[in-house]
Amino acid sequence: MAPWAHLALVTLFTPLLASPVSESESIINQKRAAEGYVSPPYYPTPPGGWVSDWSEAYEKARKVVSNMTLAEKVNLTTGTGFFMGPCVGQTGSAPRFGIPNICLQDSPVGIRNSDHNTAFPPGITVGATFNKDLMYERGVGLGEEARGKGVNVLLGPAVGPLGRKPCGGRIWEAFGADPSLQAFAGAETIKGMQSTGAIAAIKHFIGNEQEMFRMSSVVTKGYSSNIDDRTLHELYLWPFAEGVRAGVGSLMTAYNDVNSSACSQNSKLLNGILKDELGFQGFVMTDWLGHYTGVASALAGLDMAMPGDGAVPLFGDSYWGPEMSRSVLNGSVPVDRLNDMVTRIVATWYKFGQDKDYPLPNFSTNTQDKEGPLYPGALFSPSGVVNQFVDVTANHNATVRAVAREAITLLKNDMDILPLSRNDNLKVFGTDAGGNPDGLNSCTDMGCNKGVLTMGWGSGTARLPYLITPQEAIANVTNNVEFHITDSFPSDVTANSSDIALVFINADSGENYITVEGNPGDRTDAGLNAWHNGDDLVKAAAKKFSNVVVIIHTVGPILMEEWADLESVKAIVVAHLPGQEAGNSLTDVLFGDYSPSGHMPYTIPKSEDDYPESVGLINQPFGQIQDTFTEGLYVDYRHFMKANVTPRYPFGHGLSYTTFNFSQPSLSVVTPLDTAYPAARPTKSATPTYNTSIPAASEVAWSSTTFTRIWRYLYPYLDNPQSITASNKYPYPDGYSTEPHPVPRAGGGQGGNPALFETAFSVQVRVQNTGKRHGKAVAQLYVELPSSLGLDTPELQLRQFEKTKELAPGQSETLTLHLTRKDVSVWDVDVQDWKAPVHGQGIKIWVGNSVADLPVLCTVGGDCSAE
Ligand SMILES: *[C@@H]1O[C@H](CO)[C@@H](O)[C@H](O)[C@H]1NC(C)=O
Ligand SMILES: *[C@@H]1O[C@H](CO)[C@@H](O)[C@H](O)[C@H]1NC(C)=O
Ligand SMILES: *[C@@H]1O[C@H](CO)[C@@H](O)[C@H](O)[C@H]1NC(C)=O
Ligand SMILES: *[C@@H]1O[C@H](CO)[C@@H](O)[C@H](O)[C@H]1NC(C)=O
Ligand SMILES: *[C@@H]1O[C@H](CO)[C@@H](O)[C@H](O)[C@H]1NC(C)=O
Ligand SMILES: *[C@@H]1O[C@H](CO)[C@@H](O)[C@H](O)[C@H]1NC(C)=O
Ligand SMILES: *[C@@H]1O[C@H](CO)[C@@H](O)[C@H](O)[C@H]1NC(C)=O
Ligand SMILES: *[C@@H]1O[C@H](CO)[C@@H](O)[C@H](O)[C@H]1NC(C)=O
Ligand SMILES: *[C@@H]1O[C@H](CO)[C@@H](O)[C@H](O)[C@H]1NC(C)=O
Ligand SMILES: *[C@@H]1O[C@H](CO)[C@@H](O)[C@H](O)[C@H]1NC(C)=O
Repeated sequence: MAPWAHLALVTLFTPLLASPVSESESIINQKRAAEGYVSPPYYPTPPGGWVSDWSEAYEKARKVVSNMTLAEKVNLTTGTGFFMGPCVGQTGSAPRFGIPNICLQDSPVGIRNSDHNTAFPPGITVGATFNKDLMYERGVGLGEEARGKGVNVLLGPAVGPLGRKPCGGRIWEAFGADPSLQAFAGAETIKGMQSTGAIAAIKHFIGNEQEMFRMSSVVTKGYSSNIDDRTLHELYLWPFAEGVRAGVGSLMTAYNDVNSSACSQNSKLLNGILKDELGFQGFVMTDWLGHYTGVASALAGLDMAMPGDGAVPLFGDSYWGPEMSRSVLNGSVPVDRLNDMVTRIVATWYKFGQDKDYPLPNFSTNTQDKEGPLYPGALFSPSGVVNQFVDVTANHNATVRAVAREAITLLKNDMDILPLSRNDNLKVFGTDAGGNPDGLNSCTDMGCNKGVLTMGWGSGTARLPYLITPQEAIANVTNNVEFHITDSFPSDVTANSSDIALVFINADSGENYITVEGNPGDRTDAGLNAWHNGDDLVKAAAKKFSNVVVIIHTVGPILMEEWADLESVKAIVVAHLPGQEAGNSLTDVLFGDYSPSGHMPYTIPKSEDDYPESVGLINQPFGQIQDTFTEGLYVDYRHFMKANVTPRYPFGHGLSYTTFNFSQPSLSVVTPLDTAYPAARPTKSATPTYNTSIPAASEVAWSSTTFTRIWRYLYPYLDNPQSITASNKYPYPDGYSTEPHPVPRAGGGQGGNPALFETAFSVQVRVQNTGKRHGKAVAQLYVELPSSLGLDTPELQLRQFEKTKELAPGQSETLTLHLTRKDVSVWDVDVQDWKAPVHGQGIKIWVGNSVADLPVLCTVGGDCSAE
């Protein structure tokens, strides 16, 4: 594909990008906040380097940064521009120190816009496995592919959106509608990825729960997610905290505002919560073109501008780059802030060993051809070999198949119609069982819904190297099958009482820059209904056949009310979004080689009206949308329980071909909760110090360079920088200060105060396979906090889970589930710390198969019982 196809895509949203937001305006906007929702100032940025785990990397970085010129420093903070290199974004370089252009590339499911890569199952599928080992293994696969292609920073995992809005377009990129599920899956992914030397980028920070109007445009600013402090801490921030605790190297901000202050320049979020309270040691980058100001974003804690461009991309303008050089020379951005940005970036590069034998990019995100322009955005660019077609797939297909298989969630299985036998007479219906008739990867960024749905659409995708469709896999297993790869039920089909109809339906969504069948990312048009008249197809099959199995590929919640209770609908299987091994992972389960062991990572509702009104999509083209999270902690099952709404299938639900029994539960106190609040935080150790004088202007003079300038490429240089004089005249935001902020008591280590992460309790439970087939069980642990905390708290909250190994009939395994102090705490807004019931008094701990099926109960200070 020509790079111009991508450029066309950019022009498509360029009009939306001409952000009129000036720095002073952004301050006015803060004052225009929705009633009560303001983002307080938090300055200055706490420098990185005080966490012992990172001290070696920071020491290496300090040696280098102390010798860098202003041009070198600015280079590393700013992207070279949209389409100005092989990757979706790259910084400038510092060749004197062996630091290359740092390559940043999508996506959370694999190497986007590449070849000989794997298309892994997306986050929602990973969440449904409830299998931490597979979460890690997939992370390793992603990291190995990034490294093999020369990608320094792979842009994932996504742990936001959290799934607050069931119709939100990108909920499938993240791991499910629960903060702990997101946290475990995100942290395991990060650990796996970074074990290979690739740097993970946790995203999107934060409150990016719908696609429409997320970006600032000429007509309006991106929407404001107005989130109260407790809801932020207990829901949306939770998985980011665990990602930081896992040592994530970088973080991407969201396009939207929080409390009317853009995430890429919100000092409370970046300086305060992320870098001080959570102790984040890596670097913060913008989302692509989500950079809205120069000085203000630097002061607020941003470290890297991606892909570097200013309000209008591709014209060689940037809020940083040369303007950062100017801002340092004119005194508006303190030299220390720039040093901290660069130190964070260089330290992260050292931390993951990228100074040693890390490949340079050997692929191009811009073209599939071997040769092409090196800088397509330059219009006139030197050409060369851009794709070396390096095969990085190794044996990752086995991981893909295992993840997709273990995610498969059996919701209903009347009369044990599943598993199928190879002798059953099968009739298969639905285009979702087949391939894309236009060809594999024929829709850019998966921007269409044709054939089996393997992932949603947008930047969170990767090309399929191959695809095993359900049709191919079923045909490979049995000859007793007739395929009707159509979404309108054929009139001429004959039915035999012994026939089993397999009906494939799906529901798609994606990122806002592509509209598919009337859905601009979010499911505005489709709502929660199956696409392509899927309900009618199921009903028609159910009329004709007395045995119907419905197989669903979906991005998120989907309505089944029209047919779920029909007598002939015997089984319902949610296969989520399986990636390239769609067919094989499905037949593995359908034909009984494996029992299903996936569990729903969100609730299946009976109606869209089951949700609070505040989580509906907001479509308002003029004026900034104020999206206030009035439902607070009550999203997904937390809401269904509070509102006493019975869902179609509860969060965590998932059947097996066998049965399991939980027995012999026991609870041990590991670290007693002697006090309501954790022990005092440790103090910070020293961070690197540098010469704070404004450097010589000659360091960024164009006249100091000798290379040939590439048109529109972003450089750190200025004409005649000697004319710039330093002053302290900059209109700093209200509350700006260069005096270090008092340290937050909830901080003290990566993720927060280390005392929060001590194990408080552990629960053991014996899980026995009491049925007739092999299978894996998941023990889900939900915490019920006592009313003595004096706060309205969701009745049950998932805080831990473990999956058994495959158990033979009669076999058992004892699982141990750990709970930290934080797991049994609430965020105390007044004290600004996590508060637990003293001695755990009154805490109830439930363990079982779903939020609605919890046979095990342990009461802290009391007994355990199993039903
Ligand atoms: C947003 O405003 C709410 C309500 O005042 C406040 O509780 C919260 O801390 C604010 N969050 C941020 C990030 O500014
Ligand atoms: C940095 O400069 C110091 C002297 O200022 C020198 O001793 C040191 O070797 C330099 N380090 C590097 C990595 O260039
Ligand atoms: C800045 O980065 C560019 C490549 O993006 C490189 O050509 C240039 O030499 C770098 N400048 C310095 C001072 O290292
Ligand atoms: C310094 O330069 C930056 C970037 O051009 C600009 O935004 C800022 O207003 C300047 N500061 C002063 C005091 O002129
Ligand atoms: C591309 O990747 C291969 C294999 O990882 C590596 O050997 C090669 O050096 C890379 N290409 C470049 C230009 O670094
Ligand atoms: C993975 O791919 C290899 C090579 O193409 C193939 O031999 C193997 O069977 C595949 N594994 C799975 C689990 O599909
Ligand atoms: C077809 O099935 C056989 C036997 O189960 C298996 O070994 C083979 O890998 C399958 N082929 C494909 C393309 O999945
Ligand atoms: C129904 O299926 C059975 C078993 O395959 C077969 O013997 C019988 O002929 C079929 N009847 C019809 C009407 O197709
Ligand atoms: C499950 O475990 C309980 C408690 O140990 C026991 O009473 C019950 O008989 C078991 N049920 C089955 C089906 O094994
Ligand atoms: C600090 O930097 C300034 C400006 O480059 C320079 O003049 C001064 O000598 C430096 N001080 C030290 C102690 O290196």
